[in-house]
Formats: sequence, C-alpha cells, structure tokens
Amino acid sequence: MEAETQAAETRAALVAALRLQLDWGVDEALEAEPLDRARRPEVPATAAPPTAPPPSPAQPALLPARLPTPAGTRAAELAAGATSLAGLREAMAQFDGSPLRETAMNLVFADGVAESGLMLIGEAPGADEDRLGRPFVGVSGQLLDRMLASVGLSRERDFYITNILPFRPPGNRTPTDAEIALFLPFILRHIELARPRLLVLLGGVAGKALLRSREGITRLRGRWHQVTVTDDQSLPALATLHPAYLLRTPSAKREAWNDLLMLRRRIDGNE
Ligand code: URA
Repeated sequence: MEAETQAAETRAALVAALRLQLDWGVDEALEAEPLDRARRPEVPATAAPPTAPPPSPAQPALLPARLPTPAGTRAAELAAGATSLAGLREAMAQFDGSPLRETAMNLVFADGVAESGLMLIGEAPGADEDRLGRPFVGVSGQLLDRMLASVGLSRERDFYITNILPFRPPGNRTPTDAEIALFLPFILRHIELARPRLLVLLGGVAGKALLRSREGITRLRGRWHQVTVTDDQSLPALATLHPAYLLRTPSAKREAWNDLLMLRRRIDGNE
C-alpha cells in the first residue's frame, strides 16, 4: 500500500514537472550531453558469452503459380480460352469461383489505351472503382494521374491500367494470397492479350503476384525486373510504390518521382 502511494506521488510529481516545462515553452526533450545513437553499446568485460543467434523470422511463403482447387482450374481454363480483351472481360464476368464477386458491385476490368505499349497494374478496386467499374478513379487514382502527367503520360493516350484483382475486397482489405493466386491466370492472360512493351507494378500486391518474390515493395521498387508472362514471353517491369501509400506517406513521393523518371527515360530509349 505504501509502495502504491509512493508510486502515485512520484507520478504526480513527474506530471507537475512536465506541466511546468510546458508552461515555460519547452517543446523539445534533449539530454544535457549529446547522445551518439549510432555508437554501438560497449560490451562490459563481464558480459555473458555470446549466445546462438535468434532464429531468423519465418520467410513469407511464395505465392503458388496456380490455385490447386476447382476454382483455380476453372480460372485458368477461362483465361486460356479468351482470345481478345473483350473475350477476357466476358470470361472474367462469367467466373463465379470467388466470393469477392458476391460482395462487389461491379467487375473492374481496365481503363486507358490497350495498344499504348505501357501497362500499369495495381492491387484491387476500391469503393469508387467498384461503384464506377473503372480502375484508379478515386483519390489515389487521381494522384497517380497527376504524377504520370508530370512525366508527360496521360491515360487517354499513353497507358493502359488494370489491377491484379477485378473485384473489390470488402472494406478495402488487402487481398489474401489465395485470392491473388486465384486471379493470376486472368492478369497473365490480360498482359498477353494487351501485348505491352513495358509494365509498371504499383505496390506490393502487384509485385508479389507478378514477380513471385518474397521481397516487399520498398526493396523491389526503383528497379527493372522481368515478369514471366508465358513459357516463352517475359517483359520488363518497373516496380514502384502504390499511390495510396503515397497519400499516407507523402515523404515517399520523392522515391516514386525517381521511379517515374526511370520510366520516362526507358520510354525515351535513354536507359
Ligand atoms: N487501388 C488499386 O490498387 N486499384 C484501384 O483501382 C484503385 C485503388
């Protein structure tokens, strides 16, 4: 009991000291001596002998190339049977192997110019895209359009845009690996039929789906990779940050800007 009273008194004294500092206009907390945070702590002479390193964290699983379920087989058959973009859209509308279709308002297929040679691939439709049936029309899409316009690229003329998933996951949650794998045959066929020369992968889900990598987007971005579309077709793909992430983390816009400059140089044949 006495210990409790003492703790309460100490807390009250600390709070009073903080209030006083605020009254005095203090807005920074500094040590009297500068701290070198980069310096490694010194190991005391009596330190215990080093123990075995902790087990490394489990690696995220690689996405399966195809979902080994009846729905996965059906998706692959429907995708393979499509011989045009319109036919692929029809096949995707027919596909009833995903519960996402039941909660979404619309199938969101693609937008922009399919023949432009440049194809951008995002994650999945959000609420605005679901309502309007077009990809990247909400706030993150508007930011993306402005950023692309700053390197001279417009949706009406220079690029084609779609998503890994054609249906909005409820509440905009991140698609599961099983959902991504289920729709993989459709996006691969989509790329094959649109025949772009370059791909841009927007965000971690597109990177994970098409690069089949365990690395996150912050490691993948800013580099050209190869996406294997079919056994005998692969394409250069630039990985970059998703515009929704840029809205939440404006400081990352600089990196995204550098990525767009890389894209521009490649389009201009300077890289
Ligand atoms: N985010 C995406 O990944 N795609 C869209 O279409 C909209 C937001």
